[in-house]
Amino acid sequence: MLGKVCLLTGGTRGIGRETARGLATLGATVVVTGRDRARTDETVRSLAAETGNPAITGLVADMSRQAEVVRLAADFRAAHPRLDVLVNNAGAIFETRETSADGIEMTWALNHLAPFRLVHELRDLIVASAPARVVTVASAAHRIARIDFDDLEGARRYGAWTAYGQSKLANILFTVELARQFQGTRVTANAVHPGFVASNFGLEGQRPAWMQMGWQFLRLFARSPEAGAQTSIYLASSPDVEGISGMYFADRKPATTNGAARDLGTARRLWVVSAAQCGLDGAITA
Ligand SMILES: NC(=O)c1ccc[n+]([C@@H]2O[C@H](COP(=O)([O-])OP(=O)(O)OC[C@H]3O[C@@H](n4cnc5c(N)ncnc54)[C@H](OP(=O)(O)O)[C@@H]3O)[C@@H](O)[C@H]2O)c1
Repeated sequence: MLGKVCLLTGGTRGIGRETARGLATLGATVVVTGRDRARTDETVRSLAAETGNPAITGLVADMSRQAEVVRLAADFRAAHPRLDVLVNNAGAIFETRETSADGIEMTWALNHLAPFRLVHELRDLIVASAPARVVTVASAAHRIARIDFDDLEGARRYGAWTAYGQSKLANILFTVELARQFQGTRVTANAVHPGFVASNFGLEGQRPAWMQMGWQFLRLFARSPEAGAQTSIYLASSPDVEGISGMYFADRKPATTNGAARDLGTARRLWVVSAAQCGLDGAITA
């Protein structure tokens, strides 16, 4: 990965931090994003010391805010003339319904609209850097989900796992449509299920004590963040997947999705709706 520039969102903890570590160990130039300046700086310092790779830097943005995603892309462009690998990793589950500063339901804003907008803002740079890769961290939680176009933001009825599953299904549908749009550009787009990982995921937010204990118990059966990062690192770096696009991987192998994640009509419709939500009506819908 020497000479390759990788941008990885949510690099301060969990799977993202281990993905950054893996890519830095392979010699890549790595830019991690975090939402907190101190945590981002600490991540950069630690990873540089641990991997011996000084080419690690950090950018700060609250990805649930569209304006910060746009600024993040501009900050990245100001520092880097190319982007070989974008890993859309930042994500979370929200126990109760919250809205972002833009007034968008948080799960949808952070897990789906942020990577959608980031790719839009960096698209020409990615294409100009081809062969290049976009890797989006989805989840097996997509299997229980559908895209509820009548209530995308859970305004009528909100459930944390329903909203989370929908956002992860959206990650896969986004990948499918992006891969279609990237045909002929030598840019690939793939999605990942990292496995059940004992990261910081699900630990924030208020929930009853019994639920908190149940979650802590389940985490005993989870894999480490390092193990969870392996498929992202593989898709970002391995020659095995050169030219492979529009797929969903788990444990470094192609995996099956549910039928909803293969519906090209839904993928297309989601793209148009997402563009409108980002105020980008008509943009990149070729
Ligand atoms: N853990 C699992 O079992 C599992 C399973 C399937 C899929 N996934 C997916 O894997 C990805 C990584 O999750 P993880 O398990 O590593 O969780 P994590 O340990 O909570 O890490 C999440 C990362 O996203 C960042 N982040 C959260 N909210 C943000 C915001 N508003 N703006 C910018 N960055 C933000 C966090 O930054 P801070 O340091 O500021 O918190 C952190 O770096 C997510 O997309 C998740 O949906 C996880």
